[in-house]
Amino acid sequence: MTDTTVHSSAAGPCAAAHRSPYVGYARMDELHDLQDPRTGSPFELSFILLSQVKELLFRMVHLEVDQARAQLRADRAGDACGALSRATRTQRVLISCWESMNGMPVDEFLTFRDVLGEASGTQSFMYRRLEFALGNKNPALTRPEDLRLYPELRAELDSPSLYDEALRFLRREGLPVPADALDRDVTRTHRADERIEQVWAQVYRDPAAHPAAYRLAEHLLEVAYQFSHWRAAHLLVVERMLGGKRGSGGTDGAAWLREINEHRFFPELWTMRTLL
Ligand code: HEM
Repeated sequence: MTDTTVHSSAAGPCAAAHRSPYVGYARMDELHDLQDPRTGSPFELSFILLSQVKELLFRMVHLEVDQARAQLRADRAGDACGALSRATRTQRVLISCWESMNGMPVDEFLTFRDVLGEASGTQSFMYRRLEFALGNKNPALTRPEDLRLYPELRAELDSPSLYDEALRFLRREGLPVPADALDRDVTRTHRADERIEQVWAQVYRDPAAHPAAYRLAEHLLEVAYQFSHWRAAHLLVVERMLGGKRGSGGTDGAAWLREINEHRFFPELWTMRTLL
């Protein structure tokens, strides 16, 4: 008998009436009823559990990024940095989750891989929402149906990203961010701009003259670093599980992810280092 069977039977209507305050408050019994493995493999159950944990953690990171954006809009850069610092803590937890998934032997993975069908992480609307919030708005990676199904995803696509708000903040701090970079179409992905690279270089050449902008830059870079770190660890897990096989979402698998790994959030914060 698998673990799922145990939890399914515990969460009936009768159990709901008698559940403890802890279980009732966070609806833990319902939470443990949300796994529906298609094989008897305990590895499949772990795979589903870890995927669900990661989804919730994506949401937590988004929550903090959203807070940071609101604080920046209100010119509270210190509070924005606090939120970004909490975001990066959660990102580290997200990265450490790969450790657990890495413990799965490839032959065990193959016993249930086929039952995934076309299910793929590319379809995670919470991951996409986080990417949109940070500024990577690639419509080609988003299913049009998902934009209709999940209004929060559509709303995020239409909103200025964290980086848009950061650049607006820099401008209010008196830094020469070009006007067209501030008035851009926020539903599109941010494109690297040499003029913005120069603005960040100006901040880094004299941090004491721009303490809030400098601190913000360091926190933004840490979020970007942790995101790329997550992608790199995912790629290693994929190579370990699939080798050169195609992905269930229809891509080339590791080769496709390797290209995605080249992407950097807040690109000028990386490239301006050449100028220093
Ligand atoms: C054995 C474990 C895993 C394997 C072999 C795997 C494999 C893949 C592959 C091959 C892709 C490329 C798209 C495709 O064709 O499917 C992909 C994308 C993706 N996977 Fe996984 N994955 C695994 C676990 C996970 C987990 C646990 C998560 C987190 C919930 C996850 C999240 C994602 C995301 C978000 C993408 C899209 C990346 C992007 O568009 O930037 N993956 N995965």
